[in-house]
Amino acid sequence: MKGANSSRFVSNYGFFVKMGSYNNSAVVVCTTCHDPHVMNVVSISSKATSGLPAGTYATMFFLRAPYNPNDTNPMANQTAQFCRQCHADKSNEMNGSTAGTVL
Ligand code: HEC
Ligand code: HEC
Repeated sequence: MKGANSSRFVSNYGFFVKMGSYNNSAVVVCTTCHDPHVMNVVSISSKATSGLPAGTYATMFFLRAPYNPNDTNPMANQTAQFCRQCHADKSNEMNGSTAGTVL
C-alpha cells in the first residue's frame, strides 16, 4: 500500500486488514480479515486510524472493517471496498475513477 492511488484508497475506505507474518513474509490468515473479539461493529477513534471519520461502523461476520451487505443505500460499495483493500488493482482509485466509498 504505497503511492498516491493507495493513499487515495486509504483516505476513502481505510486499510483495516492485518497481515500475519511467516518467515518474514506477509501472509493472509483468518485474523487478517476477522477479529474474533468484535462481531458487528468497527470503532474508529480518529480519522488518522483510517480514512473514515471517527465513529462506529456496522460490520458482520466479525470482520475487522466496515462491511454491511444489508445497507439499504443502493449506491453502497463498502463490501466491494473491503475486498479492494488487497485487490487494489480492481479499485476505482487504481483505474482513474473519482468514485470513493459509499457506506
Ligand atoms: C480475505 C478476507 C478473509 C479471510 C482471510 C477469511 N475470511 Fe472469513 N469471511 C470473510 C468475509 C468477507 C466474510 C463474509 C462473507 C459474506 O458476505 O457472506 C466471511 C465470513 C466468514 C464466516 C461466516 C460464514 C457464514 O455464512 O456465516 C466464517 C465462519 C468465516 N468467515 C471464517 C473464516 C475462517 C475460519 C478463516 C480462516 C481459515 C477466514 N474466515 C478467513 C473474509 C475473510
Ligand atoms: C487481506 C488481503 C485480501 C483481501 C481483503 C481479499 N483478498 Fe482475495 N486474495 C488475496 C491474495 C493474497 C490472493 C492470492 C492467493 C494465492 O495466490 O495463493 C487472493 C486471491 C483471490 C482470488 C483468486 C484469484 C485468482 O486469480 O485465482 C479471488 C477470486 C479473490 N481473492 C477474491 C476476493 C474477494 C471476493 C474478496 C473480498 C470478500 C477478497 N478476495 C479479499 C488477498 C486478499
